[in-house]
Amino acid sequence: MRRNVIERLNGHRGGVVWFTGLSGSGKTTLSELVEEALFKRGFKCVVIDGDQLRAGLNRDLGFSEADREENLRRAAEVAAMFLNVGFVVLVPMISPAREVRDKIRHRFDSKDFAEVYVKCSIEMCERRDPKGLYQKARKGEIRYFTGIDAIYEAPIRPELTVDTEHTSIEYCTQQLVEFIIRKFDIKSEREEA
Ligand code: ADX
Repeated sequence: MRRNVIERLNGHRGGVVWFTGLSGSGKTTLSELVEEALFKRGFKCVVIDGDQLRAGLNRDLGFSEADREENLRRAAEVAAMFLNVGFVVLVPMISPAREVRDKIRHRFDSKDFAEVYVKCSIEMCERRDPKGLYQKARKGEIRYFTGIDAIYEAPIRPELTVDTEHTSIEYCTQQLVEFIIRKFDIKSEREEA
């Protein structure tokens, strides 16, 4: 079926929402909560998670700049396939380099793409350390860990910033759901027209 036919039937447009932020900032947690909230509203949505991709499709890739770029390029191509069948695709990946994120942005039409900055300081991420990886990175057991011995470049003009350090996860989820509905719901487009 053609994408616009699917979108009419779904009642919403497809789109790619790219979550960037440090490890431990809450990208995966938020994308899963948003997925659930959107699903309950009848949206077709899917999460393409960095850790999951790295366990399968991208298991040949490490954390050098070139490998991260390839990791993200493949994620964007998978996202594009879901987009073409009308899904709202939530992509939580660190995506540390601004230039690489810009390449991804330009892969998509601007109406189909949004960059979301999941903002949280390195100090807080390190305090949370949900996977114990910051501790390992500090001990030198993991090299090129984002924010420790590899760069993270925060977005300059993301479509949305959610601050998981100073606002609750529920509030961030609500901000995201409202943003996605405004951008991709066909009904809200009609209301605005
Ligand atoms: S990205 O930089 O290529 O966008 P991606 O989001 O796929 O990263 O994967 C990040 C996940 O890999 C982290 O959440 C963490 O669990 C794990 N990881 C393992 N080693 C590293 C590392 N050196 N730097 C960052 N994350 C790492």
